[in-house]
Amino acid sequence: FQGIAPSNKDDLLLADGLRYRVLISEGERIKGDKKFGANNDYLAFFPLSSNQAVLWVNNEYPRAKFGEVQKRSLKNIKRERHQVGGSLLHIRRQAPGASWELVKNSRYNRRLDASSRIPLIAERPIEGSLMAEGTLANCAGGVTPWKTVLSCEENYQDYYGERIWGSRQIKSSLHHWEKYYPNPPEHYGWVVEVEPLTGMAKKLTALGRFAHESATCVPTKGGKVAVYSGDDKAGEFLYKFISRESDSLEKGELFVADMVRGRWLSLDRRKQIVLQKNFKDQLDVLIHCRKAARLLEATPLDRPEDVEINPANGDVFVCLTNNSKRGNHHGSILKITEKGGDHGAMEFKAQDFAVGGVDFSCPDNLTFDPQGNLWMATDISGKSMHQAPYKKFKNNGLFYIPLAGPQAGKVVQVASAPRDAELTGPCFSADGKSLFLCVQHPGERSKNRQRPTSHWPGGGTDLPKSSVVEITGEALTSLVT
Ligand code: FEO
Ligand code: CA
Ligand code: CA
Repeated sequence: FQGIAPSNKDDLLLADGLRYRVLISEGERIKGDKKFGANNDYLAFFPLSSNQAVLWVNNEYPRAKFGEVQKRSLKNIKRERHQVGGSLLHIRRQAPGASWELVKNSRYNRRLDASSRIPLIAERPIEGSLMAEGTLANCAGGVTPWKTVLSCEENYQDYYGERIWGSRQIKSSLHHWEKYYPNPPEHYGWVVEVEPLTGMAKKLTALGRFAHESATCVPTKGGKVAVYSGDDKAGEFLYKFISRESDSLEKGELFVADMVRGRWLSLDRRKQIVLQKNFKDQLDVLIHCRKAARLLEATPLDRPEDVEINPANGDVFVCLTNNSKRGNHHGSILKITEKGGDHGAMEFKAQDFAVGGVDFSCPDNLTFDPQGNLWMATDISGKSMHQAPYKKFKNNGLFYIPLAGPQAGKVVQVASAPRDAELTGPCFSADGKSLFLCVQHPGERSKNRQRPTSHWPGGGTDLPKSSVVEITGEALTSLVT
């Protein structure tokens, strides 16, 4: 299998034997006047039958402004609120081997956005309410053993700001939605569980509140569910939640990683005197996970992003994207092996699986294919791309890393993203014949609408659009099935 070289080209380039089709682009109608959201990220595939499925898509943040300053008016903010959250899409194909298409106006097509009412599953009201208005900043996610999707609220502080610790004051946000919608910041930063067939949603406070990148589920030997989640900010932590029941994430215990001693530290207030001294109740701990984890002396990490479990042996792979403040420009993929191979264990061993800087830089999203090979997408930020020390990596890419056989550990570039874009949400169809992938924020560095830095996917003079693509081809079939 021949990989491709890094490229500056404004296109989605694929290795020989692979091709792509655009499944949907931002702003397209999915049902009545409901439109597909912007900046697609995490994908989860739920088969209905061999030729029909429901695809969940995270819509992380509002559409690009192309250098324009958009007035913070009620009208503009209202529009943005309909572009975030997540989308449920009914897709089907005529037969195995045919392309997947959107079923327009299907009853399964839905949007969850910043105006959807979503209950908070919590032991008491948060800022006076058990109902949150909307979900936003939906980055990566996970799928539960009972086939619901977990959608992670990552950079929630960009919408309604963040409360300043120890005061009632709110630090203002990037998008200034608080100007017209004064929602409490504490209603965001959670993991949202969504039923893909009905769109029923709830925010799971037991998993803690921070910039959740992902929420990766795996059964423990004791029949419970472990959920791994990184807090994507330089110097923040990796968390593990263990459910109380085998079929619900509403209750359980949250832990944070101490990488130095290889231990999971409990965030249960009843077990930690330092938490009793600083927080009034368990929900207070969960709302302020970062503070609590710091008090427990958890290990700060270089932007923990996606987590995936090696299906062959249970190893936990964690992307640490980078932390240039510490001189870590290219990041790494960390491998955690839980004691006794049990995801319920309290001790683990951690080592580098792959270090960035040679074959790739800034690992972000991961997935395993049905053959157990690892796929990884990179996220070199727009302002760093094509500058030292990132220059040689060119545009962001998708990489394939076999974990067994003579090529084990070899990193092969499979795709190169259009200009300024990041490839997100890699997700295989149930039969492994299609790889769904998101192209997020092509042309995000554009200074104006007349000369955008990207015209993908339309080409010509089109404005760029985040889109979901389906990748197929004989090379994919030979690699993963
Ligand atoms: Fe939304 Fe951490 O990427
Ligand atoms: Ca991400
Ligand atoms: Ca990212």
